[in-house]
Amino acid sequence: MIVRASGPLSRFSIFLLLNMFARLSIAVCLLASLTSLGVLSNPIVVRDSPISLPVAKRFNATGIANILKTDQARAHALKKNVQNANTGVEARRLSATDAAFGIPSTSYATEYVVNVTVGNPPRPFRLLVDTGSSNTWIGANQILRPPPSARDTGNSLWVEYGSGIVTGEQWVDSITLAPGLTVHNQSFGIALLAVGFETVDGILGLGPQVLTYGSLFPDATAFVPTVTDNAFAQGLIGAHSIGISFAPSKTLDGVTNGEISFGGVNDSKYTGEINFVPLTTTYPSSLYVGINQTITYGASKLPILSNNAGITDTGTTLLLIATDALQAYQAATGAEADPDIGLLRLTPAQFSKLESLFFTIGKETYEFTANAQIWPRELNSAIGGTDDFVYLIVADIGTPSGYGMDFIDGMSFLERFYSVYDAGANRFGIANTEFTLS
Ligand SMILES: *[C@@H]1O[C@H](CO)[C@@H](O)[C@H](O)[C@H]1NC(C)=O
Ligand SMILES: *[C@@H]1O[C@H](CO)[C@@H](O)[C@H](O)[C@H]1NC(C)=O
Ligand SMILES: *[C@@H]1O[C@H](CO)[C@@H](O)[C@H](O)[C@H]1NC(C)=O
Ligand SMILES: *[C@@H]1O[C@H](CO)[C@@H](O)[C@H](O)[C@H]1NC(C)=O
Ligand SMILES: *[C@@H]1O[C@H](CO)[C@@H](O)[C@H](O)[C@H]1NC(C)=O
Repeated sequence: MIVRASGPLSRFSIFLLLNMFARLSIAVCLLASLTSLGVLSNPIVVRDSPISLPVAKRFNATGIANILKTDQARAHALKKNVQNANTGVEARRLSATDAAFGIPSTSYATEYVVNVTVGNPPRPFRLLVDTGSSNTWIGANQILRPPPSARDTGNSLWVEYGSGIVTGEQWVDSITLAPGLTVHNQSFGIALLAVGFETVDGILGLGPQVLTYGSLFPDATAFVPTVTDNAFAQGLIGAHSIGISFAPSKTLDGVTNGEISFGGVNDSKYTGEINFVPLTTTYPSSLYVGINQTITYGASKLPILSNNAGITDTGTTLLLIATDALQAYQAATGAEADPDIGLLRLTPAQFSKLESLFFTIGKETYEFTANAQIWPRELNSAIGGTDDFVYLIVADIGTPSGYGMDFIDGMSFLERFYSVYDAGANRFGIANTEFTLS
């Protein structure tokens, strides 16, 4: 996600126009909702154990044809950050050449979605789970009137993603993440225009709050607390953290095999201990759920990527690494780029010799098996491939190492491990699961 704090006049005008349109078109609803505004009086229950929200995974057979392009567009957007000199806060802006509408607005190739309800009476929405952005919004692909219980903040919302854009109006209402977990006074957007989100109703942004900086107008220096931030502040969960459990799947049909635990970890989802490391301070990875890691290949521990900063991201499908790291990987494996798909590919004979990658994070080393490094062969035709080859999910991030974001551990990586984003302690945790060596 890229938040724009300012930009060329043309886009600014569009923004203002949409903003005006927003206000006009919802004026009636607003009048209605003002009369029903009341102080929320639900009793607050503090919990020790986390509350979990099931996550469904779905491949989009059309979308995955563009898997590499989609991920690289997102990586490009995630990397383009600037320091906001006026406030000293790290804000992120697009350069003039990255016109919002010039970014390919392909949809996410694999979608990880949760069901939440908004407002009272509760209305259900299917939202993408995204730890690489932090604004929550609803109303893609529909003309959505704010719930009667919603309160207008007077702000407009503008967020750019590698794969799309959303602009709309910012509201406050309750969001129910799971039975027993209703977050009150949550600030979120209702889209007027959302491009690139054909199959979902919006996004549940679970990343660091700093990513919301510059997303509102006119309160351009405001931060928007995430649902996790508010749930913790309201005493609904006992820890300011989320535990993330996903699993690999080999079918195009949707499967509900993931889980986000708010306020802690689910001990039955991992094996051994959770290894915590501080979030990286290297910019721009420091804006995200960023860490440092080292990558080697095979029993000989061939260096692929030296200790460098990058991020973990549920909104990226592949495992993206710096260009020189990918070249080292390609040389080690003998892989060649498929001319049509762009992904690296191996012959079955080469694949039989593929060795594990090893990720050193903090003091621990995690094995990423040969099976983990490949696109599920059952789904080769869905990405335009054939059975003659094995396609690799390790791909080029588009910049050489030393950039400050030298990898994106996307879902292909996260599906093999349990991970924790602990915003309260500013740390990331990782553990093996039953899927790590499978
Ligand atoms: C933790 O995971 C187990 C096993 O998958 C599941 O049965 C249980 O419901 C989960 N616990 C919570 C609090 O969601
Ligand atoms: C979301 O709700 C739909 C419709 O009720 C259901 O089919 C789907 O399984 C739910 N998904 C999750 C992740 O709970
Ligand atoms: C897949 O994505 C395309 C856009 O890339 C979209 O038009 C289509 O509706 C999606 N299909 C499904 C089944 O979600
Ligand atoms: C929500 O906001 C209202 C009005 O600002 C306030 O009175 C109430 O205490 C808040 N509720 C929670 C749970 O923070
Ligand atoms: C993380 O990697 C960056 C290079 O990307 C390096 O400058 C920094 O010192 C590293 N931090 C730690 C704690 O190793």
